[in-house]
Amino acid sequence: MIDFHTHILPNIDDGSSSLDMSYAMIDSVKKQGADSIVLTPHYYFDRESISDFISSRKDALKLLLSDEAKRKQFPDLFLGAEVALFPMMSKMKDIEKLCIIGTKFMMVEMPYGKWSRASIAEVDNLYTRHGITPIIAHIERFIASQKGTDNIESLLGLDVLIQMNCGAIEKKFFNRTNHNLVKTGRIDLIGTDCHNMTTRKPNMDIGIKYITNHFGISMLNEIDKCGRDVLKNASRY
Ligand SMILES: [Fe+2]
Repeated sequence: MIDFHTHILPNIDDGSSSLDMSYAMIDSVKKQGADSIVLTPHYYFDRESISDFISSRKDALKLLLSDEAKRKQFPDLFLGAEVALFPMMSKMKDIEKLCIIGTKFMMVEMPYGKWSRASIAEVDNLYTRHGITPIIAHIERFIASQKGTDNIESLLGLDVLIQMNCGAIEKKFFNRTNHNLVKTGRIDLIGTDCHNMTTRKPNMDIGIKYITNHFGISMLNEIDKCGRDVLKNASRY
Protein backbone atom coordinates (compact mmCIF):
# COMPACT_ATOMS: atom_id res chain seq x y z
CA MET A 1 0.00 0.00 0.00
CA ILE A 2 0.94 3.64 -0.37
CA ASP A 3 0.82 6.08 2.53
CA PHE A 4 -0.30 9.20 0.69
CA HIS A 5 -0.23 11.70 3.53
CA THR A 6 2.69 12.09 5.95
CA HIS A 7 4.64 14.70 7.88
CA ILE A 8 7.79 12.62 8.04
CA LEU A 9 10.33 15.10 6.61
CA PRO A 10 12.39 16.39 9.55
CA ASN A 11 12.19 19.96 10.87
CA ILE A 12 10.01 21.47 8.19
CA ASP A 13 6.51 21.71 9.70
CA ASP A 14 4.61 20.51 12.79
CA GLY A 15 5.56 16.92 11.94
CA SER A 16 8.83 15.12 12.67
CA SER A 17 11.14 17.23 14.81
CA SER A 18 14.31 15.16 14.35
CA LEU A 19 16.01 12.79 11.96
CA ASP A 20 15.64 9.92 14.44
CA MET A 21 11.90 10.56 14.66
CA SER A 22 11.68 10.50 10.86
CA TYR A 23 13.52 7.16 10.76
CA ALA A 24 11.15 5.71 13.38
CA MET A 25 8.11 6.92 11.45
CA ILE A 26 9.34 5.47 8.17
CA ASP A 27 10.13 2.17 9.85
CA SER A 28 6.69 2.05 11.42
CA VAL A 29 4.79 2.87 8.20
CA LYS A 30 6.84 0.23 6.39
CA LYS A 31 6.15 -2.45 9.00
CA GLN A 32 2.45 -1.62 8.77
CA GLY A 33 2.36 -2.54 5.10
CA ALA A 34 3.43 0.46 3.02
CA ASP A 35 6.02 0.05 0.29
CA SER A 36 5.66 3.68 -0.81
CA ILE A 37 5.34 6.92 1.12
CA VAL A 38 4.39 10.36 -0.15
CA LEU A 39 6.04 13.13 1.88
CA THR A 40 3.52 15.96 2.25
CA PRO A 41 4.76 18.81 4.48
CA HIS A 42 2.35 21.70 5.03
CA TYR A 43 2.49 24.67 2.69
CA TYR A 44 0.78 27.95 3.70
CA PHE A 45 1.03 30.78 1.18
CA ASP A 46 0.81 33.49 3.86
CA ARG A 47 3.87 32.12 5.66
CA GLU A 48 6.39 31.61 2.87
CA SER A 49 6.92 31.79 -0.87
CA ILE A 50 6.72 28.68 -3.00
CA SER A 51 10.44 28.95 -3.79
CA ASP A 52 11.39 29.22 -0.09
CA PHE A 53 9.20 26.22 0.71
CA ILE A 54 10.77 24.17 -2.08
CA SER A 55 14.23 25.08 -0.88
CA SER A 56 13.47 24.06 2.76
CA ARG A 57 11.85 20.86 1.52
CA LYS A 58 14.93 20.05 -0.53
CA ASP A 59 17.16 20.52 2.54
CA ALA A 60 14.89 18.34 4.68
CA LEU A 61 14.93 15.59 2.05
CA LYS A 62 18.71 15.81 1.77
CA LEU A 63 19.00 15.33 5.53
CA LEU A 64 16.56 12.41 5.47
CA LEU A 65 18.54 10.65 2.73
CA SER A 66 21.97 11.47 4.15
CA ASP A 67 22.67 8.06 5.70
CA GLU A 68 23.24 5.61 2.85
CA ALA A 69 22.64 2.49 4.97
CA LYS A 70 19.33 3.82 6.33
CA ARG A 71 18.29 5.00 2.89
CA LYS A 72 18.63 1.50 1.47
CA GLN A 73 16.02 0.28 3.97
CA PHE A 74 13.46 2.94 3.06
CA PRO A 75 10.32 2.24 1.05
CA ASP A 76 10.01 4.32 -2.16
CA LEU A 77 9.66 7.98 -1.20
CA PHE A 78 7.82 10.61 -3.24
CA LEU A 79 7.89 14.35 -2.69
CA GLY A 80 4.74 16.45 -2.45
CA ALA A 81 3.06 18.98 -0.18
CA GLU A 82 -0.18 19.51 1.70
CA VAL A 83 -1.22 22.85 0.27
CA ALA A 84 -3.74 24.84 2.33
CA LEU A 85 -6.24 26.30 -0.15
CA PHE A 86 -5.84 30.04 -0.57
CA PRO A 87 -7.69 32.66 -2.64
CA MET A 88 -6.59 32.91 -6.26
CA MET A 89 -4.10 30.08 -5.86
CA SER A 90 -4.81 28.90 -9.38
CA LYS A 91 -3.47 32.22 -10.66
CA MET A 92 -0.27 32.01 -8.67
CA LYS A 93 2.96 31.64 -10.63
CA ASP A 94 4.64 28.28 -10.15
CA ILE A 95 1.65 26.72 -8.37
CA GLU A 96 2.28 23.47 -10.29
CA LYS A 97 5.60 23.15 -8.41
CA LEU A 98 3.56 22.06 -5.39
CA CYS A 99 2.32 18.94 -7.20
CA ILE A 100 3.81 15.55 -6.27
CA ILE A 101 7.05 15.76 -8.23
CA GLY A 102 6.72 14.29 -11.71
CA THR A 103 2.90 14.34 -11.61
CA LYS A 104 -0.03 16.70 -12.06
CA PHE A 105 -1.58 15.75 -8.71
CA MET A 106 -1.56 18.16 -5.77
CA MET A 107 -2.73 17.52 -2.21
CA VAL A 108 -5.05 20.33 -1.13
CA GLU A 109 -6.23 21.03 2.42
CA MET A 110 -9.65 22.71 2.41
CA PRO A 111 -10.48 25.56 4.84
CA TYR A 112 -11.85 24.50 8.24
CA GLY A 113 -14.75 26.99 8.26
CA LYS A 114 -17.79 26.80 6.02
CA TRP A 115 -16.60 26.84 2.41
CA SER A 116 -17.54 29.67 0.10
CA ARG A 117 -18.47 29.10 -3.53
CA ALA A 118 -15.17 30.79 -4.39
CA SER A 119 -13.23 28.14 -2.45
CA ILE A 120 -14.88 25.32 -4.34
CA ALA A 121 -14.39 27.20 -7.63
CA GLU A 122 -10.69 27.57 -6.84
CA VAL A 123 -10.34 23.79 -6.50
CA ASP A 124 -12.02 23.45 -9.88
CA ASN A 125 -9.74 26.11 -11.40
CA LEU A 126 -6.66 24.03 -10.60
CA TYR A 127 -7.95 21.41 -12.97
CA THR A 128 -9.49 23.60 -15.64
CA ARG A 129 -6.62 26.12 -15.82
CA HIS A 130 -3.62 23.89 -15.14
CA GLY A 131 -4.74 20.30 -15.57
CA ILE A 132 -3.81 19.72 -11.93
CA THR A 133 -5.96 17.11 -10.19
CA PRO A 134 -6.39 18.12 -6.55
CA ILE A 135 -6.19 15.36 -3.95
CA ILE A 136 -8.50 16.53 -1.18
CA ALA A 137 -6.73 15.79 2.11
CA HIS A 138 -8.63 14.01 4.92
CA ILE A 139 -12.17 14.61 3.65
CA GLU A 140 -13.61 13.31 6.95
CA ARG A 141 -12.47 16.45 8.77
CA PHE A 142 -14.82 18.65 6.78
CA ILE A 143 -18.06 16.72 6.87
CA ALA A 144 -19.37 18.32 10.08
CA SER A 145 -18.42 21.90 9.17
CA GLN A 146 -20.20 21.71 5.81
CA LYS A 147 -23.43 20.30 7.27
CA GLY A 148 -26.56 22.00 5.92
CA THR A 149 -24.87 22.83 2.60
CA ASP A 150 -24.26 20.91 -0.60
CA ASN A 151 -20.53 21.73 -0.44
CA ILE A 152 -19.32 18.15 -0.01
CA GLU A 153 -21.45 16.96 -2.94
CA SER A 154 -20.23 19.88 -5.05
CA LEU A 155 -16.62 19.03 -4.26
CA LEU A 156 -17.12 15.32 -4.96
CA GLY A 157 -18.60 16.28 -8.33
CA LEU A 158 -15.34 17.92 -9.46
CA ASP A 159 -12.29 16.31 -11.03
CA VAL A 160 -10.64 15.56 -7.71
CA LEU A 161 -9.34 12.56 -5.81
CA ILE A 162 -10.42 12.06 -2.21
CA GLN A 163 -8.06 11.01 0.58
CA MET A 164 -9.12 9.71 3.98
CA ASN A 165 -6.91 9.33 7.05
CA CYS A 166 -6.48 5.87 8.50
CA GLY A 167 -7.36 7.37 11.91
CA ALA A 168 -10.86 8.11 10.61
CA ILE A 169 -11.25 4.49 9.57
CA GLU A 170 -10.52 3.37 13.12
CA LYS A 171 -13.69 1.92 14.57
CA LYS A 172 -14.39 4.46 17.31
CA PHE A 173 -14.35 7.39 14.86
CA PHE A 174 -15.95 5.64 11.94
CA ASN A 175 -19.36 7.27 11.62
CA ARG A 176 -22.03 6.62 9.03
CA THR A 177 -20.85 9.30 6.61
CA ASN A 178 -17.26 8.07 6.61
CA HIS A 179 -18.50 4.50 6.26
CA ASN A 180 -20.64 5.41 3.26
CA LEU A 181 -17.82 7.29 1.57
CA VAL A 182 -15.67 4.15 1.67
CA LYS A 183 -18.54 1.81 0.88
CA THR A 184 -19.57 3.72 -2.22
CA GLY A 185 -16.00 3.81 -3.51
CA ARG A 186 -15.61 7.57 -3.01
CA ILE A 187 -12.33 7.21 -1.12
CA ASP A 188 -9.57 7.10 -3.71
CA LEU A 189 -6.51 7.19 -1.45
CA ILE A 190 -5.63 6.63 2.19
CA GLY A 191 -2.85 8.02 4.35
CA THR A 192 -1.73 8.11 7.95
CA ASP A 193 -1.21 11.89 8.22
CA CYS A 194 1.39 10.88 10.81
CA HIS A 195 3.16 13.75 12.59
CA ASN A 196 5.23 11.97 15.25
CA MET A 197 5.55 8.67 17.16
CA THR A 198 3.25 9.56 20.06
CA THR A 199 0.11 11.65 19.60
CA ARG A 200 -0.20 11.29 15.82
CA LYS A 201 1.75 8.18 15.01
CA PRO A 202 1.59 5.99 11.89
CA ASN A 203 -1.56 3.86 11.75
CA MET A 204 -1.59 2.37 8.26
CA ASP A 205 -2.33 -1.05 9.79
CA ILE A 206 -5.65 0.17 11.19
CA GLY A 207 -6.85 1.41 7.81
CA ILE A 208 -5.69 -1.68 5.94
CA LYS A 209 -7.27 -4.07 8.45
CA TYR A 210 -10.58 -2.26 8.72
CA ILE A 211 -11.08 -1.81 4.97
CA THR A 212 -10.17 -5.45 4.32
CA ASN A 213 -12.48 -6.78 7.03
CA HIS A 214 -15.48 -4.57 6.28
CA PHE A 215 -15.32 -3.86 2.56
CA GLY A 216 -13.17 -6.70 1.26
CA ILE A 217 -9.72 -6.98 -0.22
CA SER A 218 -11.08 -5.77 -3.59
CA MET A 219 -11.79 -2.31 -2.08
CA LEU A 220 -8.27 -2.16 -0.70
CA ASN A 221 -6.86 -3.21 -4.08
CA GLU A 222 -8.89 -0.51 -5.81
CA ILE A 223 -7.47 2.16 -3.47
CA ASP A 224 -3.98 0.78 -4.03
CA LYS A 225 -4.44 0.78 -7.82
CA CYS A 226 -5.56 4.40 -7.79
CA GLY A 227 -2.44 5.32 -5.83
CA ARG A 228 -0.16 3.45 -8.24
CA ASP A 229 -1.78 5.31 -11.16
CA VAL A 230 -1.17 8.67 -9.46
CA LEU A 231 2.51 7.82 -8.87
CA LYS A 232 3.07 6.18 -12.27
CA ASN A 233 5.35 8.98 -13.52
CA ALA A 234 6.36 10.40 -10.15
CA SER A 235 10.02 10.86 -9.18
CA ARG A 236 11.29 8.35 -6.61
CA TYR A 237 13.81 9.22 -3.90
FE1 LIG B 1 -1.56 16.60 7.11
